[in-house]
Amino acid sequence: MMNILFVCLGNICRSPLAEAIFLHKIEEKGLEDVYKASSCGTSNYHIGDPPDPRTIRNALKNGIEIHHVCRQISFADLENFDLILPMDKSNYFTILNLKDALLHAHKIVLMREYDTQGTGEDVPDPYSGTERDFQEVFEILDRSIDGLIAHLRKTKNT
Ligand code: 4NP
Repeated sequence: MMNILFVCLGNICRSPLAEAIFLHKIEEKGLEDVYKASSCGTSNYHIGDPPDPRTIRNALKNGIEIHHVCRQISFADLENFDLILPMDKSNYFTILNLKDALLHAHKIVLMREYDTQGTGEDVPDPYSGTERDFQEVFEILDRSIDGLIAHLRKTKNT
């Protein structure tokens, strides 16, 4: 079983959406026994909260249901996950600065390294944005997760 962790700042917009899109696609492909996914935030701002209502609504509009309770990243996550996918460079560096994170640096990869239309850009933070921004985030994540799954299936022969 491969265990994947999506990470953003608040864990109420981007990363719970990434988790939900990933799990939806994995289920569609019948790969639930191969891949597990979860999400968390680098900040403590929203611990215990459900996802942002704008994210939930936008995801539903795109056919995706989100179920998540916000939690903050912990040292144990660096051990327990096989692949850790920060949404942007700011969160990438926050994770790399956790104690002993350099031992796990090979597992920490920017989400948009897998974007089929771009490379290594940030997934923009939609928190202060409008519905257009939430839709843009959805489309970026939808593509990036297609790229991620294609990469995983090729490298893991699934
Ligand atoms: P997220 O978006 O990192 O995609 O969950 C944000 C959510 C909340 C805040 C910032 C970004 N905040 O500052 O509360």
